[in-house]
Amino acid sequence: MKDYSKYFNKPSLNEAKKRNKEEIHRYDDAFSIPSSMENVGNHKYYFIQTYGCQANERDTETLAGILEMMQYKPTKDIKQADFILLNTCAIRENAEEKVFGKVGYVKNLKKTNPDLLFGICGCMAQEEVVIQRILAKHPHIDIIFGTHNIHRLPEIMEQAMFDREKVIEVWSKEGDVIENTPVTRANHYKAWVNIMYGCDKFCTYCIVPYTRGKERSRLPKDIVKEVEQLVKDGYKEITLLGQNVNSYGKDLEGNYGFGELLEDIAATKIPRIRFTTSHPRDFNESMVKVIASHENIMPAIHLPVQSGNNDVLKLMGRGYTRERYLELFHHIKTYIPSATVTTDIIVGFPNETQEQYEDTLSLYQECCYDLAYTFIYSPREGTPAAKMIDNVALEDKEQRLYKLNDLVNECASKQNRRFLNETVEVLVEGTSKKDDTMLTGYTAHQKLVNFKGNMDSIGTIVKVKITEANTWALKGEAVE
Ligand code: SAH
Ligand code: SF4
Ligand code: F3S
Repeated sequence: MKDYSKYFNKPSLNEAKKRNKEEIHRYDDAFSIPSSMENVGNHKYYFIQTYGCQANERDTETLAGILEMMQYKPTKDIKQADFILLNTCAIRENAEEKVFGKVGYVKNLKKTNPDLLFGICGCMAQEEVVIQRILAKHPHIDIIFGTHNIHRLPEIMEQAMFDREKVIEVWSKEGDVIENTPVTRANHYKAWVNIMYGCDKFCTYCIVPYTRGKERSRLPKDIVKEVEQLVKDGYKEITLLGQNVNSYGKDLEGNYGFGELLEDIAATKIPRIRFTTSHPRDFNESMVKVIASHENIMPAIHLPVQSGNNDVLKLMGRGYTRERYLELFHHIKTYIPSATVTTDIIVGFPNETQEQYEDTLSLYQECCYDLAYTFIYSPREGTPAAKMIDNVALEDKEQRLYKLNDLVNECASKQNRRFLNETVEVLVEGTSKKDDTMLTGYTAHQKLVNFKGNMDSIGTIVKVKITEANTWALKGEAVE
C-alpha cells in the first residue's frame, strides 16, 4: 500500500475519552481561507448528506457556508456534484451501515467522474474501526476529518486537491470553541444555535462523549449576538443545541447556567425559543420556572428517559432514578400544564429482563408522552456497555420494541386529540409535500399541522383552528 503517513492524523477513542482540568480554548479567528482556495469552487457544485442529530445538521450549515465562501454552489443532485461530503453519525450500527451503503454508491460515480472529490466527516470519522475499514476497503475516499476541525475544511481540501493525496485529519482531543465560522442556514424561518459542544455524561452505551469531546459552553455574549442577528434577519424560531443543554455554563465562571441563558435569549424577543436535548439529571426546578414564565420559550420539552427500571438506569450510568425522573416530569406538568413532553427509550440493554422492560412500559403509561424515539440497544465499540455479556436474543428485543411502539402510537394519538377544536399558533413553513394546496408548519407545542390558509402567510405565525387530530399530525383551517 502507498505510504500516506504524512497526511494521516488518525483517531483514538482512548485519547478521546480523556478529560483533564485544562481550560477550554476559545478562538475568534481560527477560520480562514488560503488564497489558493478562494475561488476553487468557481463553476463547481457541492453535495452534503447529513446523518444523525441536530449537531450534525448545524455542522453541515457551517460546512456549506465555508464551501460557498470558496465559490462552490449547492446542488440537490448528487450526480452533478464536484465535491461530495458525508457528514456521518456513529450512534448505532445501522446509522453506520447506511453511510457505508452511500460510500459504495459514490464509488460508481467516481468511475465516471475521476475528478470528483469525496469526503467523510462527522462522528464516524472519530472512530478508529471506521478509519481501518475505509483504508482497507474504500480507497476512493479522498478526505476524512472529524468533528473538531470542520473549520479547517479549506486547508484539508487544499492538500487533497493540490497534492493529489488522501488526507486524514482527525483530532482526538477534548475540543475547543471556535467562533466566527461562516454559515449557510438550511431554513429561512427556523435556525439551529449551538450553545455548547460535547458531552461529559459518559452513559455506558453511548459513543458521543468520544466523538464530540468534552462539554464546553459558548460564551453567553456570542450566543446572544447570534440570536440578535437572527432576529434582524427575520428568523421566527431558534432551537438551542447541546447534548445536555441543562448543564450549560458549568465550565464558565460565575453562576451563569441554562436558566440565565434562557432569560437572556428570551429578552432578544425572538418569537420562538426551543432547546434540545434536556438531561433529567441537570434539569432543575428553577429552569422549569424560567420556561414557564416566558411566552417565547416554547412549552415542548424533549426529556429522554432511556429506561423505567432503576437497575438498568444505573447500569446505563444515567445518574437519576425512575422516581426522580417522574418527580421532574410531574413538576414540568404542574408548572406548564399544557407542555408536550417527548422522550428517547432504549430497549434490550444488555441483560434487560422482561420485568425490567415492563417497568419501562409502566413508566411510559404514566407519562403517556407526546412522542418517543425508540431504539434497540446497539453495542458501540470502545464504550463500557459493549463489554457487557448480553443474554437477550435479538428477536426478544424486537418484540419489546414493537410492543413499546404500539404504546407510543396510542399516546401520540391521545395527546394530539387534546388539540382538537382548539385554536393554535403555527409557524408556516411552506406547502405540504403531499398536497400543495395545503400549508404546513409546527405549533408552539411542536405539533405538525397541515391546514388550509393563505399562501402569503409562509414565514409568519398564524392562528389555526384544529379540525382533525391524527396520530402523527393535525389538520386545520387558518382563522381569519
Ligand atoms: N444527548 C442526548 C441523546 C443523544 S443520542 C441524551 O442524552 O438524551 C440520541 C438517542 O440515541 C439517545 O437518547 C438514546 O436513546 C439513543 N442511543 C444512544 N446510544 C445508543 C446505542 N448505543 N444504542 C441504541 N440507542 C442509543
Ligand atoms: Fe450520550 Fe448520555 Fe451524553 Fe446523551 S448524555 S450524548 S446519551 S453520553
Ligand atoms: Fe450521531 Fe454524532 Fe449526533 S454520533 S447522534 S451525529 S453527536
